[in-house]
Amino acid sequence: RRILLINGPNLNLLGTREPQIYGSTTLHEIEQAAQTQASSLGLRLSIFQSNHEGAIIDRIHQAAGFSPSLPPPGAATTTGAGADPGTGEGKVSAIIINPGAYTHTSVGIRDALLGTGIPFVEVHVSNVHAREAFRHHSYLSDKAVAVICGLGPFGYSAALEFVGRHMKF
Ligand code: DQA
Repeated sequence: RRILLINGPNLNLLGTREPQIYGSTTLHEIEQAAQTQASSLGLRLSIFQSNHEGAIIDRIHQAAGFSPSLPPPGAATTTGAGADPGTGEGKVSAIIINPGAYTHTSVGIRDALLGTGIPFVEVHVSNVHAREAFRHHSYLSDKAVAVICGLGPFGYSAALEFVGRHMKF
């Protein structure tokens, strides 16, 4: 199975960003550990980080075989049926996403996840419920298979383990 790990805005700064809240582990270290763990679980893992909402939305579409430049399947076309020839990725079975601040603002990311129908696990490094009130609401949580927050970088590992061993597809 192929799994996609998405990290949103400012998560590229993990390790140096507000270490009292987010710790000292870098995103690179998290991604490396996730790759190793995925192979041992027999999963293929794609990794993506962006600070741009639209890029995250495009990546979610791509995970379902849609490309913004291609028509949807079934549309009259001379070029193909909507599967993206550019990635060679094949469809993604589940997404693990830390949307960063877009968690609290983005109807667009919510709609992309719902529009593609790919099941997802929402991860936050910090315990968002112990922080400012504006972090208590997520546009994704009510549609997520699971929500993990406050476990630090281990949250990614827990999500991957859950997807690899326990998730029913
Ligand atoms: C975060 C929590 C968000 O509120 C914040 O905007 C982030 C990171 C976390 O991983 O704890 O950027 O998603």
